[in-house]
Amino acid sequence: MYFNKSIFQTKLIIIFFSLLYASVSFAKDSEKFINGLIQKMTLEEKVGQMNQYSSFFDVTGPPPNDDNAKHKYDQIRSGLVGSVLNVKGVKEVRAMQELAVNNSRLGIPLIFGFDVIHGYKTITPIPLAESASWDLKAIELSARFAATEASAAGLNWTFAPMVDISRDARWGRVMEGAGEDPYLGSQVAIARVKGFQGTDLSATNTIAACAKHFAAYGFAEAGRDYNTADIGTSTLHNIILPPFKAAAKAGVKTFMNSFNELNGIPATGDPYLQRELLKGAWGFSGFVVSDWGSIDQMIPHGFAEDGVHAAKIAVHSGSDMDMESYHYVKHLANLVNDGKVDIQLIDDAVKRILTVKYELGLFDDPYHYCNEKREKELTFQEDCTAAALDLAKKSIVLLKNDNNILPLAKKNLHIALIGPLANEKNSPLGSWRGAVDANTAISVLEGMEEYKGNKVNYSKGVDLTVGETSFIREININETVRTGMDGAIEIAKKCGVVVLVLGEHGFQTAEGRSRTVLDLPGLQQELMEKIYAVNKNIVLVLMNGRPLVIPWADEHIPAIVEAWHLGSQSGNAIASVLYGDYNPSGKLTMSFPRNEGQIPIYYNHKNTGRPDPSDMVFWSHYSDESNDPLYPFGYGLSYTSFTYSDLDVQSSNETNQVTVRVTVTNSGDKFGEEVVQLYIRDLFASITRPVKELKGFEKVGLEPGQQKDITFVLREADFSFYDNRGRFVFEPGEFDVMVGGSSKEWLKYSFEF
Ligand code: NOJ
Repeated sequence: MYFNKSIFQTKLIIIFFSLLYASVSFAKDSEKFINGLIQKMTLEEKVGQMNQYSSFFDVTGPPPNDDNAKHKYDQIRSGLVGSVLNVKGVKEVRAMQELAVNNSRLGIPLIFGFDVIHGYKTITPIPLAESASWDLKAIELSARFAATEASAAGLNWTFAPMVDISRDARWGRVMEGAGEDPYLGSQVAIARVKGFQGTDLSATNTIAACAKHFAAYGFAEAGRDYNTADIGTSTLHNIILPPFKAAAKAGVKTFMNSFNELNGIPATGDPYLQRELLKGAWGFSGFVVSDWGSIDQMIPHGFAEDGVHAAKIAVHSGSDMDMESYHYVKHLANLVNDGKVDIQLIDDAVKRILTVKYELGLFDDPYHYCNEKREKELTFQEDCTAAALDLAKKSIVLLKNDNNILPLAKKNLHIALIGPLANEKNSPLGSWRGAVDANTAISVLEGMEEYKGNKVNYSKGVDLTVGETSFIREININETVRTGMDGAIEIAKKCGVVVLVLGEHGFQTAEGRSRTVLDLPGLQQELMEKIYAVNKNIVLVLMNGRPLVIPWADEHIPAIVEAWHLGSQSGNAIASVLYGDYNPSGKLTMSFPRNEGQIPIYYNHKNTGRPDPSDMVFWSHYSDESNDPLYPFGYGLSYTSFTYSDLDVQSSNETNQVTVRVTVTNSGDKFGEEVVQLYIRDLFASITRPVKELKGFEKVGLEPGQQKDITFVLREADFSFYDNRGRFVFEPGEFDVMVGGSSKEWLKYSFEF
């Protein structure tokens, strides 16, 4: 085929400049339109845009004890509300939009926010599980489908991704994040922002994303939700902020600040975070929404004296929209009129909010997302279900498989399927489950029954919960009723293999669900030990939203499968792993502690001055427990095995660029996928550096015996870090490069810049 390179290049240049021209002229049009609109707005209408209410249908936080709440609809009609959350479905969204557009003086459309965290109707794995897939394309696709279903239901803004790094499994919200590592967390943040927002925000199937919770919410002391975060500059800049910065760079349209105080200042009222860093140094042009009531909560924090003071602090600090505190709508206009708040701050916030509405296409058509036909057609599409199943399989982590007890034979097996989560159709949907109908997940029993060659006998054994389970109330765990145990034990005695499905209920993790003991809740440990006493051939399938502490299981149970809360396709994904139709490829993104006393535990820790074991006590250790986690970051087994060889590292002192090559071989007898992980260590620096830092990874699929050379290129920025004044610095010196299949096994090469 004739191919003229120069014509091709010219065409590319023309396309590039046309796109640039289109986006510049779009920005100019939007600016002109918005400036014109702002000029027409009264002060009250401007403040109205900065006010966000929750609907009466759903609450995802404590409803404020405020008379104002009774007048929400009147306020929407009067143009005193800019956004609502927790309204869903085209019918409801349209009705609410009509209140604003048909009644308010300027007819400015509302923006509709919702927590679309891991799917809307079709539920994908909880984000922590998704991150264990290390498959950025699949993660992006999952967000893409979530946006498709949510936008078809009238929504145009999700409060996701949560990009909080956390090292503390006691904190229930680790289920919503991508684990403990800032590099992986940044890559996942980018993938999810791209998935939600697509390439054209005005398309009917894309929604604005929201990077939250800015910042340090995941560093709540002792893992207790909403608790204080007190951390140093290095941890803030090197660990916590990178995923936020990556999301901002990827073009995320909104940020949410957070409930916690950080070093004495509530994040909602922190001008350094929001004005200096985010809107200043990072050049973020979207808007910042407060978290639920977090402006008001600056009062109990002891930072604001009353609502007026709280509104003033928040707006000065860069919070553009007030979620459910009511203080902006009540006090901001007076504050401006009294000369206590500069009108320019209000105009800036309003401009940011209106720009996102403009980009979403809401000024062209406020009912842009409200199409019942589309709602029907785009909900539960087949390819969305297929993507949810694919990601559910990829999120599963094989933690143990002694004597290759897995995969199970497909014929002539008599299986005892036991446990309170074995036939659960609700719990696997997890917390923050969008608008899914309850009890719609495929259970493990249903998934296993698809394989007809074996006989499966099911018994619950014990109940996990007592009474109602819900997102907004504490879950009651069964600690007394043992009546089902005997039946389960009898079944286990008669069967060749036991599949035991245990863990946390889906509502036992997420917001407000911190735990101090990370065991198998209720009577599950007792059930497991009793079953073990009669049949040792056990496969333990864990369903949980955070790392659990399971030393007994690790010591006794031959096979352990980490299956999280995998969403709608849960049972199908688990069955396909148990039977070997899918070879597990997930790797942990949070360390599993041996014991809660080790928390916070994370792979990228510092070395300390006394790292080496000695026969005296004077080294950094516990007297009663090892320093190592039970299962480390990056760990996960496969039904095949991989070997690493021929590590080659070429460094250039001119460009400070390093090329790392390694050969990976599938040394087993099944096709499998491996996550090849690259870590570095900066041996000496002006601020001590972690013993290992992830700087790259690649997931490869290999046939038995197949080899592949993997190449990573590291640049100066990969060897740089933030110093204690928040400056990004490169310090030449000695470095180690480590490549392997987990943060604990690797080939190493040392070099010097
Ligand atoms: C509070 C949570 O912290 C936040 O993540 C969520 O988006 C809002 N509530 C709205 O539901």
